[in-house]
Amino acid sequence: MTQPPQKRLYIKTYGCQMNVYDSERMADVLRPLGYGLTHEPDGADLVVLNTCHIREKAAEKVYSELGRIRRLKEDLAEAGGSMTVAVTGCVAQAEGEEIMRRAPVVDLVVGPQSYHRLPELIARAARASGGHLAADFEPQEKFDSLPEERLVEGYSAFLTVQEGCDKFCTFCVVPYTRGAEYSRPADAIEAEARSLAAQGVREVTLLGQNVNAFRGGLAPLIRRLARIEGLERIRYTTSHPRDLDDDLIAAHAEVEALMPYLHLPVQSGSDRILKAMNRGHTAEHYQRLVEKIRAARPDIALSGDFIVGFPGETDADFEATLSLVREVRYASAFSFNYSRRPGTPASAMPGQVAEEVKSERLHRLQALLEEQQYAFNAAQTGRTLDVLFERPGRHAGQILGRSPYLQAVHADGPEQLIGRVVPVRVTSAARNSLGASLELETA
Ligand code: SAH
Ligand code: SF4
Ligand code: F3S
Repeated sequence: MTQPPQKRLYIKTYGCQMNVYDSERMADVLRPLGYGLTHEPDGADLVVLNTCHIREKAAEKVYSELGRIRRLKEDLAEAGGSMTVAVTGCVAQAEGEEIMRRAPVVDLVVGPQSYHRLPELIARAARASGGHLAADFEPQEKFDSLPEERLVEGYSAFLTVQEGCDKFCTFCVVPYTRGAEYSRPADAIEAEARSLAAQGVREVTLLGQNVNAFRGGLAPLIRRLARIEGLERIRYTTSHPRDLDDDLIAAHAEVEALMPYLHLPVQSGSDRILKAMNRGHTAEHYQRLVEKIRAARPDIALSGDFIVGFPGETDADFEATLSLVREVRYASAFSFNYSRRPGTPASAMPGQVAEEVKSERLHRLQALLEEQQYAFNAAQTGRTLDVLFERPGRHAGQILGRSPYLQAVHADGPEQLIGRVVPVRVTSAARNSLGASLELETA
């Protein structure tokens, strides 16, 4: 059989881990057509911008990148070549028509549930000029038609198990861009995990917008995957407080491969604001969950997401967030100024908070979270931790990996340890990483 000619594919990924997974899967879909990945858009046959719509800044980045791509496309056309430009992901779903209007450089606009159709859409774009839009909401059809084979690099991989969201927090675009909650069949997930392990992957992170809403329970799925030979570590993200059940908490106590890390966004510590956000839980309910998970797994690293300056947020509401953070003690966290997203209920609420007020609050919250992150890291010094080494470091002789708590760890050691879980002694701590030395037996 003759090989199809090699074509160059450039994918730029914005946003969350699910977009990282989707980008890898797009490469899998396009590989049989002869597309190989390149790291520069310059001269690429196909450019894909896999976009994020979560905050205004994220969405605006796409248009400035498209300006750059337009010049590259023109240069290539002058040289007699051609470039197809596709915008995929959540901006594609939310503003498909607008993209085609604002950026005629774009040939294809493809939503997150339609990228399995890329080959057909590319062929269609080649036959007729003008923009093509695909924005259906059929996650099952997508997953069923993705190629079984995944080609992965490295020792840690993402695996989408659930997608979409029915929670409709009043600030959030995700239910509109990803569609309704959908869980993949456990058999398909296990098959994918086995193929990853067979390629040398040691750690999988199960992904979902609400991963713990996985139908049939996330804990039984984790127990099943924990039996796969070679798969040493399992993680999952993102969890919603409403779906964190006792079985998942129990799994943290009993499944050795399940890493002691939990990303559990709370958004605010004020019940008034949580209600206006339609989160469906109170601050106390959240804190009760934290107590339960700590009882099951005392060393667990907790992480969260916060929004400051939601419409109507007063100083007192913000103080309630700070006090919740002080009680929970986070190992890491993400925090954002509220961003007004068109079409979401909160964007039309009264009491929008001034940008300066948001920024001042964000600054204070981040100072506290950074202090906690450093304290969590500093508490590991002198301890022995298992690290999955994933790649060479910046300095010669250095290797980089992750602790069970997802901390970045660097150590001096041989590259042969890359791809292995190795015990190390933590010798230093910074806010974003740990330094360590190899235990004698492995050095
Ligand atoms: N499904 C996840 C969240 C995905 S979005 C969950 O419920 O936890 C990731 C984070 O972005 C959210 O947790 C929230 O903190 C933030 N975010 C979402 N919409 C936002 C908005 N309009 N403005 C600012 N931050 C937002
Ligand atoms: Fe957005 Fe809320 Fe759904 Fe998370 S749970 S994706 S924040 S609507
Ligand atoms: Fe962004 Fe879509 Fe993920 S909006 S955060 S890429 S689900």
